[in-house]
Amino acid sequence: MTDDADSKVLNVIDKADGKGAGRDRSLAEREGPLLQAVDFGVKLNSGGREVSVVRGVNLSLDPGERLGVVGETGSGKTVLTRSLIQINRGGLFTFSGSLRFGDIDLLAVSEKQLRSLWGSDIGLVTQNPMTALNPVVPVIKQVEEALCGRRDRRSRAAAEALLGQVSLDGVVGKRTYSWELSGGMSQRVAIAMTLARNPSLLVADEPTTALDVTVQDRVLSLLVRETLRRSMALILVSHDLGVVSQVCHVVAVMYAGTVVESGPTHEVINSPKMRYTEALVAASPALAVQGSRVDGKPGEELRKRLALRTIEGSLPSLGSVPEGCPFAPRCSFADFRCHKEVPPVTRLATSSRRGRPIHQFACWHPAGEKERTA
Ligand SMILES: Nc1ncnc2c1ncn2[C@@H]1O[C@H](COP(=O)(O)OP(=O)(O)OP(=O)(O)O)[C@@H](O)[C@H]1O
Ligand code: SF4
Ligand SMILES: [Mg+2]
Repeated sequence: MTDDADSKVLNVIDKADGKGAGRDRSLAEREGPLLQAVDFGVKLNSGGREVSVVRGVNLSLDPGERLGVVGETGSGKTVLTRSLIQINRGGLFTFSGSLRFGDIDLLAVSEKQLRSLWGSDIGLVTQNPMTALNPVVPVIKQVEEALCGRRDRRSRAAAEALLGQVSLDGVVGKRTYSWELSGGMSQRVAIAMTLARNPSLLVADEPTTALDVTVQDRVLSLLVRETLRRSMALILVSHDLGVVSQVCHVVAVMYAGTVVESGPTHEVINSPKMRYTEALVAASPALAVQGSRVDGKPGEELRKRLALRTIEGSLPSLGSVPEGCPFAPRCSFADFRCHKEVPPVTRLATSSRRGRPIHQFACWHPAGEKERTA
């Protein structure tokens, strides 16, 4: 991708009116967090009964930062991240706590303001790229529409340049339809259409889960390259700690609707504190095989201590999360207090960002303290 092609795309974004106006660039350069959730909660109305799906989440994402959200299936990753960008507002979900995007109070803005944010500053890529693509309209036309809301010679050139950025130049012709593309190609088109708005924040929910391993790497590399080039923040949802370790600066580990540990990825993986995180690292085949590119050899010390093993038992179901620590029924370190009292959040002073401690966890008997069994 040449500088000339880059500027072709960015020029079109700059000059397009209304729909294609692109992001508020001041967001990418702001001093404070781009996205901040404080004591954030989500309730789901299930058959007339309110059930808490996400509880007490505190997260902060700086411009250009990449955050990974990991956890077992059903832990609440999708509900949390969709709620963080309010794409599921209305209907079944209600929210509590505070949620800010730049200076905007996301829980207070109107639907109209939200729609304008999704069209410019916030982008979403889902697991199934086909949901973003119309099978009866040629792909290139959809990219043109996404890029500048109109179709002409200039928009065609810019769409071709954008497809070049995701290594699809020469693959997508004038009359190529989405059903003619492989899963990996479709996902790259979906990412290109989201990038067309030049968002400040991209949320990618399991973007590579449906793809084979070789294609996964290409899509992940693309995401990292584009976040760097565009100073774009990324929230990457994955059940795979290995994937997150390759891509993200910081990680949030979810269990039963709550973030049980968060912090710099290399620190959390090398030195997990909460016992669920410790078990997740020990159970990650990707980490056992390849190690991380974030910090050389994450988890190596831990893996020596704990052979690769599975986590026994299963997540509590919604509406029946046990009192105390939600992981207690599955934790071999649990004692009476773990079953009765919610562990407080401990903030480690070893890592900080602008004076804020960022490695935090909730556990009565964290790893590294004198080990004990029930
Ligand atoms: N629309 C809905 N109606 C009923 N229950 C829902 C709905 N959306 C989510 N849930 C429930 O909320 C919980 C969290 O779901 P969520 O999809 O966020 O999990 P997840 O961590 O993303 O899982 P996965 O890894 O399988 O994608 C689950 O118990 C799920 O069944
Ligand atoms: S608080 Fe107790 S049950 Fe929960 S992870 Fe820590 S030791 Fe295990
Ligand atoms: Mg999900």
